[in-house]
Amino acid sequence: TRLWRGVIEEYRDRLPVSTHTPVVTLREGGTPLVPAPWLSAQTGCDVHLKVEGVNPTGSFKDRGMTVAISKAAEEGAEAVVCASTGNTSASMAAYAVRAGMRPVVLVPDGKIAGPKLAQAVVHGGVIAAVDGNFDDCLRLARELAETYPVALVNSVNPFRLAGQKTAAFEVVDDLGDAPDIHVLPVGNAGNISAYWMGYTEYAADRVATRRPRMWGFQAAGAAPLVHGVPVSAPDTVASAIRIGNPASWTLAVAARDESEGLIDAVSDEQILAAQQELSGREGLFVEPASAAGVAGLLQYAREGRLDPGQRIVVTVTGHGLKDVDTASSFYGEIRPYPVAAEAAAAAEALGLG
Ligand code: F0G
Repeated sequence: TRLWRGVIEEYRDRLPVSTHTPVVTLREGGTPLVPAPWLSAQTGCDVHLKVEGVNPTGSFKDRGMTVAISKAAEEGAEAVVCASTGNTSASMAAYAVRAGMRPVVLVPDGKIAGPKLAQAVVHGGVIAAVDGNFDDCLRLARELAETYPVALVNSVNPFRLAGQKTAAFEVVDDLGDAPDIHVLPVGNAGNISAYWMGYTEYAADRVATRRPRMWGFQAAGAAPLVHGVPVSAPDTVASAIRIGNPASWTLAVAARDESEGLIDAVSDEQILAAQQELSGREGLFVEPASAAGVAGLLQYAREGRLDPGQRIVVTVTGHGLKDVDTASSFYGEIRPYPVAAEAAAAAEALGLG
């Protein structure tokens, strides 16, 4: 076995870095591709989960951030800014402080999960709670970066997508080829675009013999790509993907169409049910947004719109501990059995007797 060095060192010749780039890394990437027996049984397919919640800050964002922050360091940036529904800001803050930069975070006031905000805080982020939604935050971040000495690291920064495409490389490296279908949640639409770039690059260089169909799923109340028009007041329990006007709109639609794939919507109920199935059947706790892909896959299987026998990879994008409140409230009040510290009494209370 060999130590994983982080996505820049692992895929250096495929990334926009040179010997002059100071590598800012937390050894992100190299995440497990886990077989999903329950999902495979439900769908009649060979389903694997790409578990991105094990990245250093708990989401896939670290892949793009190592590249974006390394390039910002190369260019001499002293401060970086992003708009975020929580995970990008957590990741940016961690990598920025590592590089000695000031992280400036714009989040929609009251609309991001507590643990994500805590991450930005502990990493020394300067945090603005913006009176508006994510789309307003992104517009503001762009305006600040245009006028003031601060580098923008949202996924409109091409270095972010370049870093994120490494997840597709890892899938092919693990499976020996691309899957038939790649499923994932879609919010600002950077990740689906990045995976498509990665699969396309590997196919062009004959590392893979083919490219998968890309299946993206948005939350029903925040599904601009499904409707074909921006949503002015996006709403969903999955706060990470509560986005009405995705920055990578054109790239995502191209990924969908070139791959003969689809982008569809799933309800909040389906998202929470899928999150529960992942925890209760596969043993993987993911945040609500991360379950949107699984929710969509289950819907298509149930409706007979998924041919059996295919190899499928589903990206689960962030860790369940990122949003404990939503998960706990779905399960109702948590009431463990009160037991004495004595075996016979405990066994009786716990139904083991
Ligand atoms: N899943 C999680 C857990 C996310 O945090 C995000 C996006 C997505 C899926 C959607 O990915 O935007 O590339 O289509 N979170 C961003 C953020 C918007 O600010 O953390 P996407």
